[in-house]
Amino acid sequence: MSYENIAQYYDQFGTGENLGFYLDLAATTAGPVLELGVGTGRVLLEIAKLGRDVVGIDSSVAMLREAKRKRREDFPEVSGRCRLILADMLSLDLEQTFGFIYSASSGVQGGSADDLRGIFRSAADHLAPGGLFAFDVGSPSSMRKTTVLPPERRELPGGRVVIRFVAQAYNELADKTTYDLLFKEFIPGRTTTVSVTETGEGAIITRETIEDALAYAGLTIKSIAGDFEGGPLTDDSKWIVVVSERGKAGR
Ligand SMILES: C[S@@+](CC[C@H](N)C(=O)[O-])C[C@H]1O[C@@H](n2cnc3c(N)ncnc32)[C@H](O)[C@@H]1O
Repeated sequence: MSYENIAQYYDQFGTGENLGFYLDLAATTAGPVLELGVGTGRVLLEIAKLGRDVVGIDSSVAMLREAKRKRREDFPEVSGRCRLILADMLSLDLEQTFGFIYSASSGVQGGSADDLRGIFRSAADHLAPGGLFAFDVGSPSSMRKTTVLPPERRELPGGRVVIRFVAQAYNELADKTTYDLLFKEFIPGRTTTVSVTETGEGAIITRETIEDALAYAGLTIKSIAGDFEGGPLTDDSKWIVVVSERGKAGR
């Protein structure tokens, strides 16, 4: 998904459910922090606010534009220690290591087992010895379904209102899920409506492919959970939440 048209609405509809999880993990680590797939900076700017040096990379120009706007307008105090870089996490070379690397809210979108190995290898190559790499992705049971989500309404500055419609379609043959998103923005009482659409694919990522790819990258699993409170990962879990570690002796 390019997020070209919808980056402006991204934060309005985020659940915010995992923010505390990543803030708490960051506090257990030292040194600079890297987010893979930083999006609008929803999590990273808050970590920077705690006084950490942070780097966020993303392959979407639109998401990075939004993150930079927020840094300038809402988080000016972190500008000197927050770098935002256009890059692909599959081929990353920042020539720097980090004490904490993470990828929140399905930033990890490896479409194949090889992609996942490549992404985790990128993370491992940028981790300082003893550093942590954490991420969360939608579980197979939440991805492998066809459904229409209830419309959600949000109020925007200037009296504007936006309603989001989401249709999720699972293709069993291809074992892939596509999303169609429609945003309708308007000012109540006026007739003009702006419609914005975006389509994207969601990869099905299983516990087994995660374990394989982490082992390939030389990372050790510290915990694997089904939610952000450390609950067990079951067939019904909504997420897969993983914390892994690079050994102190290196790989
Ligand atoms: C669902 S958003 C999550 C954004 C942010 N991590 C958050 O928690 O709010 C996923 C982000 O990952 C980015 N992304 C997906 N694949 C990527 C890749 N291969 N390299 C860099 N960024 C990627 C997308 O552009 C998007 O901004």
